[in-house]
Amino acid sequence: MSSSDTLIIFDTTLRDGEQSPGASMTQEEKLRIAKALERMRVDVIEAGFAIASQGDFAAVKAVADNIKDSRVCSLARSVDADIERAAEALKNANAARIHTFIATSPIHMEYKLRLTPDQVLEQAVRAVTRARNLCEDVEFSCEDAGRSDLDFLCRVIEAAIDAGARTINIPDTVGYAVPEQFGDTIRRLLERVPNADKAVFSVHCHNDLGLAVANSLAAVACGARQVECTINGLGERAGNAALEEIVMAIRTRADFYHIETNLNPQEIVPASRLVSSVTGFPVQPNKAIVGANAFAHESGIHQDGVIKYRETYEIMRAEDVGWNANRMVLGKHSGRNAFRARLDELGVHLNSEQELNEAFQRFKDLADKKHEVFDEDIQALVSDTQKAADNERFALVSLSVCSQTGEVPTAQVVLSVNGEEQRASSQGAGPVDATFKAIESIVASGTSLELYNVSAITSGTDSQGEVTVRLERGGRIVNGHGADIDIVAASAKAYLNALNHLSMEASRAHPQTDGV
Ligand code: KIV
Ligand code: ZN
Repeated sequence: MSSSDTLIIFDTTLRDGEQSPGASMTQEEKLRIAKALERMRVDVIEAGFAIASQGDFAAVKAVADNIKDSRVCSLARSVDADIERAAEALKNANAARIHTFIATSPIHMEYKLRLTPDQVLEQAVRAVTRARNLCEDVEFSCEDAGRSDLDFLCRVIEAAIDAGARTINIPDTVGYAVPEQFGDTIRRLLERVPNADKAVFSVHCHNDLGLAVANSLAAVACGARQVECTINGLGERAGNAALEEIVMAIRTRADFYHIETNLNPQEIVPASRLVSSVTGFPVQPNKAIVGANAFAHESGIHQDGVIKYRETYEIMRAEDVGWNANRMVLGKHSGRNAFRARLDELGVHLNSEQELNEAFQRFKDLADKKHEVFDEDIQALVSDTQKAADNERFALVSLSVCSQTGEVPTAQVVLSVNGEEQRASSQGAGPVDATFKAIESIVASGTSLELYNVSAITSGTDSQGEVTVRLERGGRIVNGHGADIDIVAASAKAYLNALNHLSMEASRAHPQTDGV
């Protein structure tokens, strides 16, 4: 099977991506991202870790119930309870996969699992057998394979394939591998595991040394036929391999890899923006493929070359990855039906007519201030509508800010706290500082501000500002985001959104720190 010339793209934005500190997503947001991944024709969507919490279970189930064209997968440790919960969440999926894993490196087996290698092998076989009884398609991962002993890996993998695993995943869990060595590991596994031809070999690389994409590609060159990756490279610590970079490297260098993916690359930029807006993790301007500068030529020589013959300085076309695609514009004359149709195309499903009416009203208000309303604006205003529908604990009622050269800025805020209006004013170093201080004088959250970031959602000075705020309290980190044409109002919304996240359910198992 591993010699096939199609590379399976397994997206784990909703599972490993969500393990980035502060990147937690609501069920509705996960479904919206899953729809974007389905439009992109991703082969497998890892929708979450069903046993982690009631919310994670519900999100995996919602994705399994609604996604038809991609296979939907849930992670499960190598224990019956996890595997059964994953199967339950996936039961309505058109095509389901259970992804079970156990650590195989000496350091993890000895210090985390406190199991001998033989016990780990036995547990892996039991887990794969149990999963196969519940689901046709089972993937098995050797966690921390990047630091595991090759002979032991061969034994575990052979046994897992015999037990019914059809995909064998080799994760570089801590981002320790380097390309030549990682590729060589894959080659040697394919040569040495006697039943290797009965499974697809997959890789899952973390980016701690900035090598996740390079390691994944080296593995592909040596026979791996599934890559696990995330949009924008989101993920635990320094993240995972970026889907957009893997897909475009395979496509642009087809002369070298001689392999294809099923992906529609035109959906890459819209998906990247959606993930950035939902998680509040901005995309750096010089990020390959999806960064604002990825196709911008600054130097005169380059500009001149591109005008004369595009390929002098460009190896990909911006429009092929979705820049300027899907940029259908709505304006203040657009009606409710056009708005609804655009929401459908973007995969946005509002829960009621009332939510649709509220979103449409927000759209009209925005269109009054802004000439053209783009897809990114619509995504942001839908997020706002959904926040309001979630009956959030803290909401902004009004904000008045006075900022004048030579004067100390002041802000007056009116908040709704559990439905009751409270007001406060404060001075600050700047208008945003004054606003946050005024909010704090009402909520007294005891948090510290870890990050404050503003970016423009679209181009032009009438663009909405999108603000990300990261707060920390007692070791828990949450992100909040808000969008508005007025960036101080966007900042206040982002701050309140982070406070709302803090007041939500906190307990949730982590797949890798809670040992089996
Ligand atoms: O990084 C890792 O090892 C993982 C596994 C659970 C696949 O995320
Ligand atoms: Zn991982």
